[in-house]
Amino acid sequence: MKIDFYPGKLLAIETSCDDTCAAILDENRILSNIISSQCNLHKKWGGVVPEMAAREHLLSILPVIDEALEATNVPKDDISACVVTNRPGLIGSLSIGVSAAKALKLSLGIPILGVHHHEGHVLSTLAKLSDQDVFPAFPHICLVASGGHTELIYVEEPGNYKILGSTLDDAAGEALDKAARLLKLEYPSGKSLQDAAVNGDKARYRLPEAKLGDKYAFSFSGLKTAVLRLVEKEGSNIDIKDAAASIQEVVAKTLSKKLLLACEEMKVNHVTVVGGVAANTRLREILREECKKKSIGITIPHFSLCTDNAAMIGIAGSYRLAKGEGADYTLDAYANESLMNI
Ligand code: KG4
Ligand code: ZN
Repeated sequence: MKIDFYPGKLLAIETSCDDTCAAILDENRILSNIISSQCNLHKKWGGVVPEMAAREHLLSILPVIDEALEATNVPKDDISACVVTNRPGLIGSLSIGVSAAKALKLSLGIPILGVHHHEGHVLSTLAKLSDQDVFPAFPHICLVASGGHTELIYVEEPGNYKILGSTLDDAAGEALDKAARLLKLEYPSGKSLQDAAVNGDKARYRLPEAKLGDKYAFSFSGLKTAVLRLVEKEGSNIDIKDAAASIQEVVAKTLSKKLLLACEEMKVNHVTVVGGVAANTRLREILREECKKKSIGITIPHFSLCTDNAAMIGIAGSYRLAKGEGADYTLDAYANESLMNI
């Protein structure tokens, strides 16, 4: 499928949660992708504090945009459009990015556009990092697994999405984060859990996989309770490596099973996996093995495009600008909005 992208240099901004991000793109080619992590700021609270996140974005947004420009040979005046995440997310955090985009519209006289964060994740597979990148076939099934969402999406083509199933309670990343916290692993927890699981015995602790009436739905709250019970029962005897490996395995197996089931039943032969949890090396390994066995094509973005970043927002924005979409100074930020409504 031929997809048209915005034929010019584009600045993308992402501030929906706790990372201040800016990227420069040329069509769908990424020229720079800068992420300023607030990880150290939120670490001691064990999670993101919304007001602190917004204030940090306010301090970082212009230096990060400057850094994204400096990392390329593109002068500021060559930027001919700006796209920004405006939904869903923390409202204070989103507002900083949206305000920056409006300021650029005013000062440079360029078009701007608000982008749905999840469409950024879904279309992150279309980014061109090098000439070898494998593009996904359409239609495909996309698994979005992040800290806030777990969704199976039938992607007919860019802009045409049908949500097949989502989580009934915790998102996959949230479940990993909560389990990691119970094991007293450091924030950011998903990566700490993956690191702790290296050389761990994934079959040591039996953890439950939710059995649900809806075959495409997910539920991870039972896992959190089971890990809590395990920690209480084992006390100081718990083997952190084995516990981390067992938790990672059950989450990765659940995600891959449902993704492949959807693929089979919808008679689709390509899958994509996006969002922060797609950075998990065990999940990537299981899915690549399973897809190979079933001759299903698979596209998982480069690690740098899995967790939140502005390049993926640039891809989704570039595709929508090319379709003629745009926004004016009334562009607003929204805490919630389903991908189905865009
Ligand atoms: O997409 P993302 O950066 O932010 C949201 O939109 O939520 O996803 C963040 C989530 C967190 O829950 C984090 O623990 C998880 O992605 N994560 C990982 C890994 N890296 C990030 N989970 C498992 N393994 C990883 N390597
Ligand atoms: Zn995200």
